[in-house]
Amino acid sequence: MADGTADPRTIHLKDYTPFPWSIDGVELTFALAPRGTRVTSRIRFRPNEGAQPAPFFLHGEDLRLVEARIDGRAVTPAVTPEGLTCEVPAGAFTWEAVVEIDPEDNTRLEGLYLSRGMYCTQCEAEGFRRITYYPDRPDVMAVFTVRIESDLPVLLSNGNPGPSGPGFAEWHDPWPKPSYLFALVAGELLAHRDSFTTMSGRPVDLAIWVRPGDEGKCAWAMESLKTSMRWDETAYGREYDLDVFNIVAVDDFNMGAMENKGLNIFNSSAVLASPDTATDANYERIEAIVAHEYFHNWTGNRITCRDWFQLSLKEGLTVFRDAQFTGDLRGRGVKRIHDAAFLRSAQFREDNGPLAHPVRPESFVEINNFYTLTVYEKGAEVIGMLRRLVGEDGYRKALDLYFERHDGQAATIEDWLRVFEDATGRDLAQFKLWYSQAGTPRVRVEESYENGTYRLDLTQTLPPSPGQPGKQPMVIPVAVGLLNPNGDEVVPTTVLELTEPRQSFTFKGLAARPVLSILRDFSAPVMLDRQASEGEAAFLLAHDTDEFNRWEAGQTLARRAIRAALDGRSIDAAWAESLRAVLRDTTLSPAYRATILARPSQEETAQALFDEGQTPDPVAIFHAHEAVDLHLARSLPDLLPALFEEGQVPGPYSPDPDAVGRRSLANAALALLSRVDDGARARAQFAAADNMTQSVAALASLLAIGKGAEELRIFHDRWGHDRLVMDKWFALQVGQARPEVAVATAERLTRHPAFDWKNPNRFRSVFGALSGNPAGFHDPTGAGYRLLADWLIRLDGANPLSAARMSSAFSTWRRLDAARQGLIAAELQRIQATPGLSRDLSEMVGRMIA
Ligand code: TRP
Ligand code: ZN
Repeated sequence: MADGTADPRTIHLKDYTPFPWSIDGVELTFALAPRGTRVTSRIRFRPNEGAQPAPFFLHGEDLRLVEARIDGRAVTPAVTPEGLTCEVPAGAFTWEAVVEIDPEDNTRLEGLYLSRGMYCTQCEAEGFRRITYYPDRPDVMAVFTVRIESDLPVLLSNGNPGPSGPGFAEWHDPWPKPSYLFALVAGELLAHRDSFTTMSGRPVDLAIWVRPGDEGKCAWAMESLKTSMRWDETAYGREYDLDVFNIVAVDDFNMGAMENKGLNIFNSSAVLASPDTATDANYERIEAIVAHEYFHNWTGNRITCRDWFQLSLKEGLTVFRDAQFTGDLRGRGVKRIHDAAFLRSAQFREDNGPLAHPVRPESFVEINNFYTLTVYEKGAEVIGMLRRLVGEDGYRKALDLYFERHDGQAATIEDWLRVFEDATGRDLAQFKLWYSQAGTPRVRVEESYENGTYRLDLTQTLPPSPGQPGKQPMVIPVAVGLLNPNGDEVVPTTVLELTEPRQSFTFKGLAARPVLSILRDFSAPVMLDRQASEGEAAFLLAHDTDEFNRWEAGQTLARRAIRAALDGRSIDAAWAESLRAVLRDTTLSPAYRATILARPSQEETAQALFDEGQTPDPVAIFHAHEAVDLHLARSLPDLLPALFEEGQVPGPYSPDPDAVGRRSLANAALALLSRVDDGARARAQFAAADNMTQSVAALASLLAIGKGAEELRIFHDRWGHDRLVMDKWFALQVGQARPEVAVATAERLTRHPAFDWKNPNRFRSVFGALSGNPAGFHDPTGAGYRLLADWLIRLDGANPLSAARMSSAFSTWRRLDAARQGLIAAELQRIQATPGLSRDLSEMVGRMIA
């Protein structure tokens, strides 16, 4: 199979058919044991009126069927590796089954598994079928009652607690839900408790459950939870709907967290924080993920997805909501800048390579492979465009209608767009192309000015992507503003709607040729093709009123400096001077000025070169970026120390937006200063640091200049006992390594006694860091490719989901030089030829090779 879509197991959106039965109730009993957990199920099925007759099929994988009964009579179903079929009565009936499963053997971390002695589950997307036989599809919703039998002290499941006693606990979830939202946890856990009163006065008991020893690291997640609950009431009118809300921290977890109804399960890295072990970035990530999972209670759980092709219905919307939340808490401009920079360096890479797919894919082999940046982040961007087109009021009306009309349902993207059409009267037929056409649109910008009239000509093109050779024009909201030569805004932000391949927009009555500020607030996830002059960018950096575009102007200048360095030209001295003026302006927040000081990522530079028909060399790009840093450090010898000082925050650590912003400014300055002070300030900061943000920033600055060996040793000795901190220790050395030693460092660390490769966080701390160090990973010898391929093959045997995710490190291979392409192709073929390769990894490799 060369092409993943030719796989006989390919599932297609167009083949959707409803399940012919409804479920009137599910009762599950778990008799927990590491090997041989017994799961007894009792499910009442009722045929849907008018349903097409179909065989009764239940999903089930890696289960030992002990017995099955229909209406009390033993039956013998036909069992395959994917599930079972059985003769059933024409009317309603009760299905009962006893199965056995082995949580201890479960290294995939899907279904019921053990993480360091703690039972936990992960059912999204298709993990429930590893727990018992069931119609494991999101459009089958049911009320669950669960009984857990175990001597472990804490036994949790979804919904509200029922009777409990020595050796057992019962739970009842009154809200019908699909099986992917089922959860169970059992272990020796401690609770960090709090409470919340909803807007209608309902009390809710909140608890965050952790292993003994971690109970002091829950306060921040709890604060974040309460803030999220209040925010969803205020911003969306959404109230919580159970008596309890539980969060559990788990050490072995494939992703960030999971929104199981009333029982969110989190990767411990997305919950636990204390000032001495977590960085500002960790605190912000925890706040955002807690919010994200909580917001799923309405966008995902109360309204779920009809099938997995609709995944962005819940994920795009919930990412959009958590971004609004973070923007409200921490500043909209800075949040928008962070999101756009992330989208451009990570999602654009996906959208412009062999893994490109629409926000709503039309086929898949393994659904786990479609929890992507496109479905999540581009999906959120699409909602942002929709909101911009219909306005704030239209958006609110549409969302109110969405919740009213679809509560309790498994919905589709069509349902979602229809509420916008019905609430606002706008036709969204063309807008819908954002869900079906893959790839990043390019928008070419041409300007002219004559006799007081300014004309803007915009041309859109959408490059071909896998399976989509030709494309139709999209609806692209392009927010623009015009400034006159003295810096005043003559045309405030206006949204131009580009719907044709080429369109002109005119602005009349302008006394002088204006300066264009285009794609304000990053109003659409597109690439601009524009020949703006250096002078214009400097002008906008000084004067633009749009926070995003002011930053973008700085990025444009930085890109030019990087290009100059790449081409061996000298960097224009005017750049540092225009930065100086902005960086000195203390009316701008420190957090904002820190973004001004950041350069585009190496990935962004590589993409831009490729887009122009060049062959990017990751090592050359690394050196160009470094030359630019050095140039800035040398050009701003007075300013950088001042920014570093300004960013010092006295007093005890706090992750509040102001303190975080100041530290980010200081640490951005520190990284540059280290290039000219031989690491003196970084060494001093490391020695004096009383919080992890300062330690990590200092260490990263030292490693980036090839120093820091002693500090790494100190760090290791101090934090060897703490897994989350040790993940940083692994990741920092690989991620910040000089290109020549990155692969050797990664290889050496895989032999470190603490390299527990079956733990996804630890595996990622080495290999995520390696692929995030492009010049190191793309070592011309191919050593990085070989090392990653070896480990992906090994990981695939234990955890296909994580192996497949990590394989996307190879996805940019087509834009590299012939030698590197050959080396990567050989590794991809070696992986593909591995006997027993998982469906997950083979689909990814197949798509990359195709
Ligand atoms: N639905 C989860 C979220 O975005 C993520 C998720 C999907 C997940 N599949 C998973 C988490 C598998 C862990 C394992 O919030
Ligand atoms: Zn989500």
